[in-house]
Amino acid sequence: MTQPYVRVNDLKVAFSTEDGVVRAVDGVTFDVERGKTLAIVGESGSGKSVTSQAIMGLLNRKTTQMSGEVWLGDTEMVSAKDDVLRAKRGTEIAMIFQDPFASLHPFYRIGNQLVEAVRAHSDVSKADARAKAEHMLAEVGIPNPDRRLDDYPHQLSGGMRQRVMIAMALINGPAVLIADEPTTALDVTVQAQIMELLSRLQEEYDTAIILITHDLGVVADVADEVAVMYAGRIVERGGLDDIFYRPQMPYTVGLLSSVPRLGTVAERLIPIPGQPPSLIRLPQGCRFEPRCAAKHLVPGDACRTVQPDLLPTADDAGHLVRCHLDEAARAAYSQQRLLEATSSGGAPRPPRSCGPRASSSTSRSPRARSARSRSAASRRSAASR
Ligand SMILES: Nc1ncnc2c1ncn2[C@@H]1O[C@H](COP(=O)(O)OP(=O)(O)OP(=O)(O)O)[C@@H](O)[C@H]1O
Ligand code: SF4
Ligand SMILES: [Mg+2]
Repeated sequence: MTQPYVRVNDLKVAFSTEDGVVRAVDGVTFDVERGKTLAIVGESGSGKSVTSQAIMGLLNRKTTQMSGEVWLGDTEMVSAKDDVLRAKRGTEIAMIFQDPFASLHPFYRIGNQLVEAVRAHSDVSKADARAKAEHMLAEVGIPNPDRRLDDYPHQLSGGMRQRVMIAMALINGPAVLIADEPTTALDVTVQAQIMELLSRLQEEYDTAIILITHDLGVVADVADEVAVMYAGRIVERGGLDDIFYRPQMPYTVGLLSSVPRLGTVAERLIPIPGQPPSLIRLPQGCRFEPRCAAKHLVPGDACRTVQPDLLPTADDAGHLVRCHLDEAARAAYSQQRLLEATSSGGAPRPPRSCGPRASSSTSRSPRARSARSRSAASRRSAASR
């Protein structure tokens, strides 16, 4: 069996600030195989972007305390020297952001920027690099790519800029792509096009994708696995169906119940009360305890005093849950809450987006595919309205 290309093991990231130590990422572990997509979801401030910056080796080591391991193939990134990190970025791992100007310089023609990206990592002539840039623009669906190479970023629409950023990220064929809210700023039609483009390119280049998003509709469309983060930790992880149809951690259930669902007659959204805790003064026990509506089901005061571990469920080693409640009680609580949030009383459906701010599919089950097609259909109908 081949090893997953990305292996993150007990990753911790903390920032020292005037107010105290911010424990932004606190013991995160996951794997991603090539050709697969892991979606990371969770409310604002839960540590999603800091996790991705740590994987990319983008955090300032002088001001950041970091521990654990991030393996990309056979290179460990947390302990790697800066020149190794630089060499890996762009060739083995690349990132796309919500804001294309985070990767594109506004004052340089996009052709020159793409040529530079190629020549920074391989010894090719300018003419060959330009030909590769033109090919990549065509790959991401930019019409007349030979002429577009001479445009500046501001001459393109938002969707086209996003495509150029994807071209820039993929031009050296990285094994891993991190997409941090890649479509949040785009309208729903362009969002769907960009996600379809990413899925097509993932299949073509066999890329492992880590997708960070608030949009659970996008997750339903493209993810193979989902990790739910809360206050710096993964609180539930599993296949797409585990998280959407059989969630067990009360926070995941809260997220799914707090956003509109597809295909229901009417919707009764149940917001999660309260706010996530300060990452400087974390609760002693379960970090979700101050907001959890299920804590009264756990005997004694374990929720308040003991941190739960992230443990596999009895019948699925790939579905991990961080909660003191026993499995039967978790499942019953989850089904009850999801039904309350679905006034039609039907089976839970994939929701649209999470949090206040708002793929290639070798192993996807028919149910995951149906979740995806329902979501895609809904997106198309929203786009046509
Ligand atoms: N350089 C830094 N110094 C101090 N704290 C930081 C730093 N970078 C991030 N943080 C804090 O770390 C926590 C996690 O931030 P992160 O950006 O990962 O959240 P996120 O889950 O990506 O949220 P969002 O959904 O809003 O993008 C936040 O409390 C943030 O304020
Ligand atoms: S451990 Fe307790 S407080 Fe935390 S999610 Fe489970 S039931 Fe709620
Ligand atoms: Mg973020």
